[in-house]
Amino acid sequence: MVSSNMLKHLALIMDGNGRWAKERGLKRTKGHEEGANVIRDITTYCSNHPTIETVTFYAFSTENWKRPKLEVEFLMKLLDTYLKKELPVYQKYNVRFQAIGDMSAFSKTLQKRILQTEELTKNNTNLIQVLALNYGGRLEITTTVNQLIAQGKTTISEDDISRGLQTPYSDIDLMIRTSGEERISNFLLWQLSYAEFYFSHTLWPDFNKDELDTIIRDYTNRTRRFGGVK
Ligand code: FPP
Repeated sequence: MVSSNMLKHLALIMDGNGRWAKERGLKRTKGHEEGANVIRDITTYCSNHPTIETVTFYAFSTENWKRPKLEVEFLMKLLDTYLKKELPVYQKYNVRFQAIGDMSAFSKTLQKRILQTEELTKNNTNLIQVLALNYGGRLEITTTVNQLIAQGKTTISEDDISRGLQTPYSDIDLMIRTSGEERISNFLLWQLSYAEFYFSHTLWPDFNKDELDTIIRDYTNRTRRFGGVK
């Protein structure tokens, strides 16, 4: 019997890049650059973990367009460079890359890079790395409901929504947010229903495999009741 606190789907809100850079007298963009390297480390950790099947990172929210234009442009460029550099890493660690969110607002070049990376890694089976890009939980649920209506559904069940989401893999087991902020910020609202939460004070560029390991050990010792009693 599968234990209820087996960790299959881990989600991370990567927060604190700007503060990390500011503390060092660096530009905010440097914090994002360092943050991208941490995504790689955490992904390789997850690919070596015996039970994790999916890791989802919140890389760009539907609200992040409000940032200064130059920072948004930098993040777009960084994403393109990251995916280009990452391809051999995905292949080496047998990781499948998938993006969720509304990609239509991105440049054609970036959209192509995302689709190509998804295509080239689609047969990898060790781990799914999901990047949430121009993603919003409310938008995802609303889009799903509208699609079901367009298909002619008049009564919509929870199962219909779960299956219609862009992230039908599984519910989230553990959600970690770094930098001391304790918010969901419109991330995976539906899929987080029964997740365990962990808020770390570490700024994302300083987050590492050792801390993740400690958090996972803490998670494993928690009792998950899913609304019932134990
Ligand atoms: C929050 O830091 C971080 C983000 C805007 C999203 C995460 C982005 C990255 C890790 C870098 C790029 C990602 C990829 C996939 C290449 P913040 O700027 O809000 O930090 P602050 O709250 O300290 O200002």
